[in-house]
Amino acid sequence: MAKVLKGVQVFAPATVANLVCGFDVLGMALQQPQDVMTMRLREEPGIGISHADGYDLPVEPEKNVAGASLLALLEEYPEKAGFEIIIDKKIKPGSGLGSSAASSAGAVVGANYLLGNPFTKEDLVRFAMNGEKVASGVKHADNIAPCIYGGVTLIQSIFPLNIVQLTAPPMYVTVVHPQIEVRTSDARQILRKEVQLKAAIKQWGNIAGLVAGFLKNDYDLIGRSLEDVIIEPVRSILIPGFDDVKKKSKDAGALGGGISGSGPSIFMLSKEEYVAKGVEDVMIDVYTRLGIEFKTYVTMVNYEGAKVQVIS
Ligand code: HSE
Repeated sequence: MAKVLKGVQVFAPATVANLVCGFDVLGMALQQPQDVMTMRLREEPGIGISHADGYDLPVEPEKNVAGASLLALLEEYPEKAGFEIIIDKKIKPGSGLGSSAASSAGAVVGANYLLGNPFTKEDLVRFAMNGEKVASGVKHADNIAPCIYGGVTLIQSIFPLNIVQLTAPPMYVTVVHPQIEVRTSDARQILRKEVQLKAAIKQWGNIAGLVAGFLKNDYDLIGRSLEDVIIEPVRSILIPGFDDVKKKSKDAGALGGGISGSGPSIFMLSKEEYVAKGVEDVMIDVYTRLGIEFKTYVTMVNYEGAKVQVIS
């Protein structure tokens, strides 16, 4: 008897876009936090969205990041299909931890599985970028790609899409999410449109150094390359406590780090777990003193990406 596939649960990880110097081109998946989505194929075409969290996000498919991504997928699917999706967001929207990417990527990963995997991972990234467009007005893949592929990814080109998976040595990631709102669209709006050649030279040296550091398992090179002379000086102004966290985390032994995506979360990479936990103490201390509510995570790189589990 043929097995009837009733539904899936998708676990879509948080991601750190940019990785300090690689604005819009580098990203890394984290083991925690992860969004959870329950998806089913439905008889009639169309997309039904509901939420199991308290974020009050839109349910109209074209206004919802998961819905917009699924609409893009259905446009290229030769048959009629429809989905029911229940989204339980564990990654707070506007955190800088790839919340919209997790919904967008998770939805198309689940849909692809339910349809029998007709699409490649690269196709799924392309579809999910439509969700990012809904969220921030711009298609970018530096959260989507690591969410789908896992690990560290380089977006060598977005049009045409070319994703390169990078190997990286084991690393702990400490994250602090100060509970203030920074909209990605605003954090992009404030950036200067032109870059000085001197700054560009420094930046591309750092990006190349960071990629080489990952590939060669060279922690010192990774640490030296985690420097951003273009975006961070502008955006960090939006994040109280940023300079303090960065300096004290490095003093505590972190390799380095910076703004996660467009912020307000800050991430730090460490070689050892005890250092990562010491960095968490630093973050707790800074935000407790500032009187700003926050949440911290001590986690690791997620090499698996969005994961599907069949449910009955
Ligand atoms: N690369 C994007 C930005 C990521 O920094 O605006 C947003 O999460």
